[in-house]
Amino acid sequence: MGILNIGVLGAGVVGLTSTLQLLDKFPNCNITIIADKFNQDTTSDGAAGIFRPGTSFSGPSPEITRQWLVDSYDWYSELLNDNCGVSPVSGYIFSSTSLQLVKNHLLEGLVPVYRPARSDELSLCPGGWKYGSYFETLLIECRAFLPWALHRAQSRGVSVVRQHVDSLDQLQSQYDVVLNCSGLGSKLLLGDHKLVPIRGQVIKVRAPWVKHFYYADYDTYIIPGSGGVVTLGGSRHYDSHHTEACGHDAAAIRERCLALVPSLATATTLGTWTGLRPHRDTVRVQAERVGNLTVIHNYGHGGYGVTAAPGTAKYAVHLLQHTLMGNCKL
Ligand SMILES: Cc1cc2nc3c(=O)[nH]c(=O)nc-3n(C[C@H](O)[C@H](O)[C@H](O)COP(=O)(O)OP(=O)(O)OC[C@H]3O[C@@H](n4cnc5c(N)ncnc54)[C@H](O)[C@@H]3O)c2cc1C
Ligand SMILES: *[C@@H]1O[C@H](CO)[C@@H](O)[C@H](O)[C@H]1NC(C)=O
Ligand SMILES: *[C@@H]1O[C@H](CO)[C@@H](O)[C@H](O)[C@H]1NC(C)=O
Ligand SMILES: *[C@@H]1O[C@H](CO)[C@@H](O)[C@H](O)[C@H]1NC(C)=O
Repeated sequence: MGILNIGVLGAGVVGLTSTLQLLDKFPNCNITIIADKFNQDTTSDGAAGIFRPGTSFSGPSPEITRQWLVDSYDWYSELLNDNCGVSPVSGYIFSSTSLQLVKNHLLEGLVPVYRPARSDELSLCPGGWKYGSYFETLLIECRAFLPWALHRAQSRGVSVVRQHVDSLDQLQSQYDVVLNCSGLGSKLLLGDHKLVPIRGQVIKVRAPWVKHFYYADYDTYIIPGSGGVVTLGGSRHYDSHHTEACGHDAAAIRERCLALVPSLATATTLGTWTGLRPHRDTVRVQAERVGNLTVIHNYGHGGYGVTAAPGTAKYAVHLLQHTLMGNCKL
């Protein structure tokens, strides 16, 4: 048998972290990334990129979900000094409604600090907040991270093909294995009906004086990034496919964020961005045999793909090793 040909469908954060982990475990394979969108054209690009899973984030079991997150956090932590868009970040989450809303069982015990906010911290922002937490985590800015990861893959021998894939037949003749990291993909309506877009809109402003992130009720968030660029959010529209910016959403986001951090009133607006989160009730990382092709699915990360990508990538590569051993190919 010749060299194993592996295609990775997708060049978002999931496809690229999968590729880098494939390279570590299959250094002698021929790996090709196939995608119709790269870097700034992907959903991954617009995400603020904070490492913070929602409490509903879910893999096939609580243990696996936890392992994905631990593996992701470790993987990104090793890149902190590589100048690739990964940096430490800290801040607050506030609520007037419930203590539960400022807790996060997936982050507590994983990040270096996750503690209740002190009473002086509860009044850092106007709003009369009753509950709050302070935590430290990582920020992964895809604007820098995706080009870095793509370049790193290419410099290690990975080929890149810009192509829209309509059917598996197209891939069957060229590859032994395909990693399906296509996110919402193109076959949304024909393929996996559990995959649902959750539309999200953000505003990017320049406000270099904002040093911490702030989350509050009604899906309000303010996340500082590099170059003084701050992401203001957000919105969550289930089963909405609309990718145009909405003026009402923008006005509502601005109003909620300015109420939380009034100094944002003087920030310069850089632009508005809308993306569709590829939501699935459980993220799908699974092996499937299609004719002669081994497909490893890795999609459906919803609003937490930047957070969970390296962990699900490790799991996907592990599944592939297992599948190939079962087929006596190794
Ligand atoms: C407003 C907003 C804010 C967010 N903030 C955060 C955050 O702070 N932290 C966090 O963890 N997550 C965040 N997310 C979620 C995150 O952006 C997604 O979970 C993540 O980008 C999904 O990555 P992906 O690689 O699966 O998909 P994508 O980035 O969409 O990549 C999919 C890739 O597959 C390719 N592809 C698909 N179909 C085909 C086809 N048929 N042929 C060829 N190529 C194909 C595309 O070209 C693309 O390269 C946010 C999302 C939104 C919308
Ligand atoms: C590697 O993959 C590319 C893209 O599918 C293909 O053109 C090339 O022939 C492959 N090389 C080998 C040695 O199989
Ligand atoms: C990837 O998954 C999507 C969603 O289920 C599906 O529509 C598509 O056919 C899959 N692609 C491959 C190459 O398996
Ligand atoms: C699958 O592999 C077998 C044996 O190598 C070959 O005869 C057959 O044509 C292949 N099928 C497809 C769909 O490529």
